[in-house]
Amino acid sequence: MSEAVRIELLPLGKKLAVQRGAPLQDVLFAQGVEFPCGGRGRCKGCRIKLLEGSLPVTSEDEQKLTRAELTAGWRLACRAQATGDLKIELAQWEAAILADESVFAFRPQEGWGVAVDLGTTTIVAQLLDLRTGHVLAVQTALNSQAQHGADIMSRVEFALAGGLAELVRLIRQQIGGMITELLASAGGDGELKNVVIVGNTVMHHLFCGISVEPLSHYPFVPANDGLQIFRANELGWNLSGNPTVRFLPCLGGFVGSDILAGILATKLHASELPVALLDLGTNGEIVVGNRQKMLCASTAAGPAFEGARISMGMRAATGAISEVHVQDGQLRCHVLGNVPPRGICGSGLVDAVASGLDLGLVLPAGKLSANQEWTLEPPVSLTQWDIRELQLAKGAIAAGVRILVQHWGARMEDIVRVYLAGAFGNYIRRSSARRIGLVDFPPEKIQAAGNTALLGAKLALFSLDEHDGSYSDLRKKIRHISLNEDPGFHEIYVEQMQFPDGTAGRF
Ligand code: FES
Repeated sequence: MSEAVRIELLPLGKKLAVQRGAPLQDVLFAQGVEFPCGGRGRCKGCRIKLLEGSLPVTSEDEQKLTRAELTAGWRLACRAQATGDLKIELAQWEAAILADESVFAFRPQEGWGVAVDLGTTTIVAQLLDLRTGHVLAVQTALNSQAQHGADIMSRVEFALAGGLAELVRLIRQQIGGMITELLASAGGDGELKNVVIVGNTVMHHLFCGISVEPLSHYPFVPANDGLQIFRANELGWNLSGNPTVRFLPCLGGFVGSDILAGILATKLHASELPVALLDLGTNGEIVVGNRQKMLCASTAAGPAFEGARISMGMRAATGAISEVHVQDGQLRCHVLGNVPPRGICGSGLVDAVASGLDLGLVLPAGKLSANQEWTLEPPVSLTQWDIRELQLAKGAIAAGVRILVQHWGARMEDIVRVYLAGAFGNYIRRSSARRIGLVDFPPEKIQAAGNTALLGAKLALFSLDEHDGSYSDLRKKIRHISLNEDPGFHEIYVEQMQFPDGTAGRF
């Protein structure tokens, strides 16, 4: 990488080499840093302190930070680019547990803890000092099970074909290795007391060694989706003090403990008024409710939001078109990593179709108005098939939300806030999500909530003196709805595959 610059991240002391000009949001997101407002320069949650090097003050920095903060070197990471070598300190890892701008209250505990978000594709693990809430070290990795299938259903198939033990061995070994690395990089003399892991239902089973056979066919009811507790040595981990390892319970069907953690992180379970939480992955997970009752469901949205099954689709990585907008009647594309485009990721796809609808290049029924192919920025283009894939994905999510809201006994306009969890939720433009009818709520009600799975796992670490992690009272208030069994699902799904006609809001 001849055009590389160096970035040193404090307090972890981690050193990275990145392409000159790379947006810090892309660089830091890959390191497990959260961008609570989705990198729109609105929340201050991503602020960093410049210790060496230079970062020009942007207009968003001026709006959000005081003169004294700017002089002291504070900047918004989501607005900054690495044009030269930098040494920066992350406020997020210094200031207890952050979500939005608020610091969650926590009761200090003894020792250290590790929180793990075990995703189908990626794993993030953080080591915390439970006395201060500070993050001591972070590890991110691609899930090593992916060599046996990229998505959850192909992992299930591999497990059913005799590969369960291999998948269990791989993931236990990988997470054990990550924890060993976390402890080594933090140094010091803290004792690791607890590990909390969250993940979707298939990840839960494939870590805990539970048969996934019931998840392979209708009615997709998990065999045992409750809290699982291990001692480290039972998992083959040789860790000082033999800490307790908990995989938090799932919520039913394909709604896993990552969503339970999302409820904790967004405080959905404490809300007076009805709120929604959406996790828009291959398997879209939805929760609607308030502190009295919550409904959850999963919907097989397909992998379009992750850029898969799109002809030039890719994950949100260097070279992906991640944003598209219309300026003076022309399309403008933002490419991650400041390099020529080589594909398009989910957020770019949503933006592109929203722009295409505004320009009349995509019709409400989903047809491309002129050709079978639409060039966004050479060589990246979208085909009729790609638009169809997006319609299937967005139709499934939008229908799921409507049905849960109906079952809950509310109208769409009664929902006071919609949290978008995960990486896609962080990057997606809210106005585009509404323009295509994916999240049919006014943009001011939609809030990117960052990695709510990891945040919820961290919160769980701090409450283990109150309960064992089974969350039985909370789970009693949550009912799982099987969308396919709803008599109205198919009609609503087909209706929701259409794109809204025109830009006006509908309520
Ligand atoms: S201001 Fe940067 S993520 Fe919100």
